[in-house]
Amino acid sequence: MTVIVVDAATAAAAAELPRPRGGSVSSTDSGVALPSFEALAPSRPPTTTAQEEVAIGVPGLGAPVRLKVDAGPGCGGIAWPAGEVLSRYVAHRHARDPARLAGKTVLELGSGTGLVGIATALLVPDADVWVTDQDILLDLMRENAELNIPGSRNIHVEELSWGEDLPAAIPTASVDVVLAADCVYFEPAFPLLVKTLCDLAPVGKDMEILFCYKKRRKADKRFFALLKKHFDSIVVDDDKEGEREKYNREGVMLWRLRRRR
Ligand SMILES: C[S@@+](CC[C@H](N)C(=O)[O-])C[C@H]1O[C@@H](n2cnc3c(N)ncnc32)[C@H](O)[C@@H]1O
Repeated sequence: MTVIVVDAATAAAAAELPRPRGGSVSSTDSGVALPSFEALAPSRPPTTTAQEEVAIGVPGLGAPVRLKVDAGPGCGGIAWPAGEVLSRYVAHRHARDPARLAGKTVLELGSGTGLVGIATALLVPDADVWVTDQDILLDLMRENAELNIPGSRNIHVEELSWGEDLPAAIPTASVDVVLAADCVYFEPAFPLLVKTLCDLAPVGKDMEILFCYKKRRKADKRFFALLKKHFDSIVVDDDKEGEREKYNREGVMLWRLRRRR
């Protein structure tokens, strides 16, 4: 297996390669061909055996997060820029206010490689972190969790398909924080994701939802129209100085969602 070590910016650039450009094929620095974004979404059975490992730097962590990436199980098998932005924000906020996540139950939706959840579990060893996605991504997330947190002390991998009943295996009633990065890209899934967010955050429950979004298509507006019926979106403005301007320029937005009463 080839190991590519890249900093966050380079990894983000690499993750950008499979942009929604019809039928295009992109390649990583190592020359491994990745299918186009359209070809990858929604998830489907593996069509490639190409597997690589990347290392993504997250400030505050002694070592980069190591991620096995695999374009086979769909778009979640590679790391996306919004995931890196959200990981960096969680790290920045944790450095300023360690009490905020200490002892909390954190659930990540559409974790893909598991980057955001793994970074959170590493940053906050006494938080209980659940990384979730569709069945096809679970093995990759398990591998990545084990790669970074041997014994997976405070990180759990579980299937959570949007729109379906919340899994009994996850203590969803105890979830304090929901994280979601780059989960808006496939129109049929829009109502499903909104339903899951509503299920996790019933009216009146005191919790935080950090939602990081990469702008791609006009159709995304339909997601936000649905979301608006149930949630207010508040721009996160306590990120590291200059950071927001930087990721906004790349079409990435970071919001805190608050359930409407
Ligand atoms: C663009 S990827 C983002 C992955 C990761 N959050 C990141 O930032 O690198 C979108 C993720 O949403 C997941 N996803 C899509 N539809 C889903 C559904 N119906 N239920 C659960 N996860 C889903 C995909 O499997 C994929 O991992």
